[in-house]
Amino acid sequence: MLAIDLAGKRAFIAGVADDGGFGFAIAKALAQAGASICVGTWPPALNIFQNLLERGKMVESLRLPEGGSLEFERIYPLDAAFDTLEDAPAEIRENKRYKERGDFSIQGVARRIQEDFGEKALDIVIHSLANGPEVKNALLDTSRKGYLEALSVSAYSNVAMVRQLSPLLRAGGSFLSLTYMASERVIPGYGGGMSSAKAALESDTRTLAFEAGRRSGVRVNAISAGPLASRAASAIGLIQRMIEYTRANAPLSRELEARDVAHAAAFLASPLAAGITGSVVYVDNGYHAMGMGVEGPGTIGGS
Ligand SMILES: NC(=O)c1ccc[n+]([C@@H]2O[C@H](COP(=O)([O-])OP(=O)(O)OC[C@H]3O[C@@H](n4cnc5c(N)ncnc54)[C@H](O)[C@@H]3O)[C@@H](O)[C@H]2O)c1
Repeated sequence: MLAIDLAGKRAFIAGVADDGGFGFAIAKALAQAGASICVGTWPPALNIFQNLLERGKMVESLRLPEGGSLEFERIYPLDAAFDTLEDAPAEIRENKRYKERGDFSIQGVARRIQEDFGEKALDIVIHSLANGPEVKNALLDTSRKGYLEALSVSAYSNVAMVRQLSPLLRAGGSFLSLTYMASERVIPGYGGGMSSAKAALESDTRTLAFEAGRRSGVRVNAISAGPLASRAASAIGLIQRMIEYTRANAPLSRELEARDVAHAAAFLASPLAAGITGSVVYVDNGYHAMGMGVEGPGTIGGS
């Protein structure tokens, strides 16, 4: 049998703070394939996440399909807006949710992983985070500050993670980020510069694949996922409409589950994908291939 075998590999997944998003589903799939899992969690969400875990509120969702449970080897505080601790303004460093957490920057996480596991201790890095403070504003009404913040947290953070974490990756190591089709087609309502951030993330996937591939031999890919009602997506406000529209108009009218994306992520992180880098892989029930809606007057082939 040709199996996805990640036994003996260690993954770091940035952007896990509950059990409803792609990061959590990817953690489960990688664990199911045998990898050990460390996550990076945004400090403002860290307390709630740790409480849910400690109080056993996530027992069901942590259960793996073939027995056993997802366990987190480490949960690191991570604010991907900052490359170094010095980059964080005093008001953030002094904030009660950050203060006791130590170095929560991207550099801080890289150092902690090295301290905890040694020089070359990672195989898989997943970037599963995004934030656009003005996501509910049309791009036309987005401030410079809001736009740059969306780019900073949702796209530049991936560049910084590839730079900081590449040296820690063992042979065959890979990076993966999560993007959305709003980068290349208009999705009304996906505002605040988030569409621009996803376009940057995808373009960077190609350039980073070349640069980090030549420098460190690592692979860099992205998955363009269909809509999922995660916590982050629900904040955009129109996620249910996006899900229903996509389902009605995609080649496959099945519900897209987080694990569809997670299984593709496990494949891309595995040695089976050794020849794949610089790619943006759609996991969206095929919706990206459509040029015309199925429903409504004048359309053919729908049901
Ligand atoms: N849900 C969708 O419909 C959809 C579709 C395509 C792509 N994506 C992408 O998938 C990825 C994961 O999102 P999700 O929808 O699964 O939601 P999610 O809420 O599970 O994940 C987003 C995470 O980002 C974290 N985060 C926000 N700002 C951060 C910061 N400054 N530093 C560190 N972490 C920060 C949040 O705490 C959260 O854990 C994102 O890149 C998102 O854009 C989502």
